Amino acid sequence: MELTAERRKETGAFYTPYRWAELAMYYVERIVPDCGGYRWRDRPFVFYDPAAGEGALLAAANDHYGGCLTAGTTLEAEDVAILRGKGVVIAGQSDFLSDKPIRGIVPAPVMAAAMESRLVVLTNPPFEDAPAGRYEGMRRRYGTANKTELFISRILHELRPVLLCSFSKLGVLTGARNGAWRRATGLMDRIVPGGCFVCRSRTWPGLRGDFPILFACYSGIPGCEGETRRSITVDVWERPPEELTILREMN
Ligand SMILES: C[S@@+](CC[C@H](N)C(=O)[O-])C[C@H]1O[C@@H](n2cnc3c(N)ncnc32)[C@H](O)[C@@H]1O
Repeated sequence: MELTAERRKETGAFYTPYRWAELAMYYVERIVPDCGGYRWRDRPFVFYDPAAGEGALLAAANDHYGGCLTAGTTLEAEDVAILRGKGVVIAGQSDFLSDKPIRGIVPAPVMAAAMESRLVVLTNPPFEDAPAGRYEGMRRRYGTANKTELFISRILHELRPVLLCSFSKLGVLTGARNGAWRRATGLMDRIVPGGCFVCRSRTWPGLRGDFPILFACYSGIPGCEGETRRSITVDVWERPPEELTILREMN
């Protein structure tokens, strides 16, 4: 959807390049058999993106898994038609950070899939901080003003999917500012080994600067109290996605 530069910045509407979305699906496929014994073919997952935008991630899930159930909600009403046009089965407009209870935000079949341990959240939430006075309820609840962190907290604590697979800035794992939030979320302990990669923001059209963008898969099942894991292993993809042989081999 066409947005002014100001609106794009305000809502973090920088869409995932399709090739990176495809690579993300390669990582999801790689780790799913290890996720508590859930088997894709026996118990089909529902893929849900609560910041779906134009649906790059859900389109990649659909292409990869062929006809899986995809669901997306997003802030801009105009994006909903685009999601439907891309074959997203359940598409709607909602503000994921609003003070409404989660059941008033997320479509009922998505809530049902979460209850049945069949929900995978696949997302790339906005990266910026909420401006002063916005999302006060969520900020108080989760002790952060950063929108990515608010999305991650709400997904893990209120929606409780089997897996959360998310792009974000690398700082969600490495920042000094957000250590207390990270420990409260148990984020490091939730990381599923083999499900992480880093790429460069300069390979994302529209993003300014050159910073690392992380894709990581987090278990919906909390780890132990406190943070026990001190390090993780990630693949680093330095080149633009068009140059990756791994993607050529997938197609
Ligand atoms: C970084 S873009 C990613 C879009 C898509 N998931 C992708 O990967 O291309 C973030 C999207 O979240 C939407 N968004 C921003 N704030 C939101 C909110 N509070 N609730 C739901 N969607 C929101 C934006 O409109 C934008 O489409």
